[in-house]
Amino acid sequence: MSVVIPTTGLITSDVALAAETLRAGKLCAFATETVYGLGGNALDEQAVARIFAAKNRPHFDPLIVHVVSEQWLQRLVREMSPEARQLAAAFWPGPLTLVLPKTDLVPDLVTSGLPSVAIRIPAHPLARELLARVDLPIAAPSANPFGQLSPTTAQHVADSLGEKIDLILDGGPATVGVESTVVSASSHGVELLRHGGITQEQIESVLGFSVTTRTQHSGAAPSPGMLLQHYAPTTPLIVTDDWRTVQIDRRRAGLMLLTPDTSAADFAAVETLTSDGDLTTAAARFFAAMRRLDQQDLEVLIAQPFPEVGLGRALNDRLKRAAHRR
Ligand code: TXA
Ligand code: MG
Repeated sequence: MSVVIPTTGLITSDVALAAETLRAGKLCAFATETVYGLGGNALDEQAVARIFAAKNRPHFDPLIVHVVSEQWLQRLVREMSPEARQLAAAFWPGPLTLVLPKTDLVPDLVTSGLPSVAIRIPAHPLARELLARVDLPIAAPSANPFGQLSPTTAQHVADSLGEKIDLILDGGPATVGVESTVVSASSHGVELLRHGGITQEQIESVLGFSVTTRTQHSGAAPSPGMLLQHYAPTTPLIVTDDWRTVQIDRRRAGLMLLTPDTSAADFAAVETLTSDGDLTTAAARFFAAMRRLDQQDLEVLIAQPFPEVGLGRALNDRLKRAAHRR
């Protein structure tokens, strides 16, 4: 994989400059606690179109709109069900996205023509300062080319999108490391559409009931981003518990593990995410580790599935999509 040297001045910590860039209708990637987002003014269709173009993202995949103020929330959202209010009160600001009925102010391009809009109030202090200064709703998908690994540092963004965007607001490495959890909460019910930084267990404990999860396409997709292949490294990836016995040339293979294992020593590259199996730590390190493995020019990558609890569900979801071959 070739490394793009970023243009001088592309990465900045100047939040006033970042706000100006967004107000001018340009694209500015910015740090959030989940992953870096590629921001543009959600009310400016040209800026939104530039987001789709820069990412090479299909127009049927709608964007998340980021706000910090109650006023903007009210202008964008027609109504909030009691469940939506409960979840917002519990997890905003934070790694939760709520899919809510939209007002006419939200351009159809943002929602791919859907009657709902995905809204997130991020917790990262720099993202919040940016949104407060811009005082506009900011559409921001993850700042990576469509289908590829998500960025958790400013440099990741520069490496993959540097030539296509105007500025990157550097807020340090993302602390959560996986995208927000996407939940649709309307009068028709609550549905978990994407596993992410807020766990299913956390959501269920606030609501007091089990939620349905529809994170897989089944006919008409409620969340168009449920594509089978996504978050993918360029090196083929196999996800298996049987990595110790799988028939591959270990000298040409990379391995991702949750905890250290001495029988992994002869792999060409090993990324061990934690010393103790802590899933919060694993999530924060996941995408950067996958990126490092992908850059070693190996024949195959092997990853061990995570325990299917808490953040492990979000990580397994990313692994499954990363491993899917068209
Ligand atoms: O953590 C995150 O959510 C990051 C940061 C930057 O905020 N953003 C992010 O955006 O991951 P993106 O575009 O990569 O993922 C947005 C997801 C997609 O799965 C999309 O299909 C879904 O949200 N989505 C957006 N609008 C929707 C809607 N109206 N109905 C259902 N799903 C929607
Ligand atoms: Mg994404």
